[in-house]
Amino acid sequence: MNDRLVRACRREPVDRPPLWIMRQAGRYLPEYRALRERADFLAVCRTPELAVEASLQPVRRFALDAAIVFSDILLPLGALGFELGFDPGPRIANPVRTRAEIDARRARPVTEAIPFVGEAITLLGRRLEGELPVIGFCGAPFTLAAYAVEGGSGNGFGEVKALRYRDPAALHALLEKLTGLAVDTLLMQIRAGAHVVQIFDSWAGILGPEDYRTFALPPVRRMVERVRPAGVPVIYFAPAASHLVEDAAKSGADVLGVCWRTPLGEARRRTGGLLALQGNLDPHTLLGPPERVRERARAVLDAAGDSPGHIMNLGHGILPETPIASVEALVETVAERESKPV
Ligand code: CP3
Repeated sequence: MNDRLVRACRREPVDRPPLWIMRQAGRYLPEYRALRERADFLAVCRTPELAVEASLQPVRRFALDAAIVFSDILLPLGALGFELGFDPGPRIANPVRTRAEIDARRARPVTEAIPFVGEAITLLGRRLEGELPVIGFCGAPFTLAAYAVEGGSGNGFGEVKALRYRDPAALHALLEKLTGLAVDTLLMQIRAGAHVVQIFDSWAGILGPEDYRTFALPPVRRMVERVRPAGVPVIYFAPAASHLVEDAAKSGADVLGVCWRTPLGEARRRTGGLLALQGNLDPHTLLGPPERVRERARAVLDAAGDSPGHIMNLGHGILPETPIASVEALVETVAERESKPV
């Protein structure tokens, strides 16, 4: 098994930093677009055979160091009765805005509501024949709450912030339910064979430090505590959160994923070198010529420094309009480091 990712998560020495790409399975790949002509997004997620095909597409083409299960952070919301659609952004037909609406939601077991996520991971592991690690994932409670209250991607997630001021106890109650759901989702994925899990806190950055410490960080800490005994490394990704780096480093996760707004050298200093870092090439870099991709990727690798504990990645998901040649240039640039002992 290629163990670069797991070793880097644990800050053990590796021959070069591992590379995977957030949203590596997706629309920038012509073979993914072809798959989507045959089936809509939710059908791909719900059919393990198709989900595994989407996960394998990028690792067949590029020398990446992990495969990620094809799914979405919002699918587990189905277990709490949220009716979810994508066109292509997410739409929730029945968001919750009041304490009564929140209290009325009862979670069904994830093994009943989204069994296909675990099945896809097991099948993916079998198809990879143990060659690459499989990444499982879920949304962080605050980020899931942002969608559950807003009902979609909307206008900067004003609804969840309004609820925070109108009825903070209701927001806490919702976060509690989402924490249980997210933990169950990750444990199901780990039981199914995930080697590493990532918690996406895509919208934590809309909070100021005090609200982050009150509403977003504690549920993530509880999640990590409950998932840790399962024994796989945990990555916590919080983009657009430069103002929260010191706090986010206290999630208990093994790795903090940062976006391009926080230089990696600065992130290392501000986290005291206490956890590994993931990132953080700006996805827009890949819209430039391959030479520019190489130059910027080298700068990220240099900023990460020589001490163990860096996972090369973008600072956020790869853009659908990204040329294949850019991804090849990124992969080659990371491979250059192989000769250098780290
Ligand atoms: O390779 C992978 O990473 C694939 C698995 C994956 C998807 N979504 C597939 C997907 C993962 C890890 C996600 C995470 C996700 N989903 C996040 C966290 C990451 C981030 O971007 O901050 C969030 C916030 C979502 C919610 C979501 N799902 C949105 C906002 C959208 C629309 C985005 C867009 O770019 O249009 C989706 C849809 C979605 N999820 C697609 C894919 C491949 C596009 C669907 C399609 O094929 O039409």
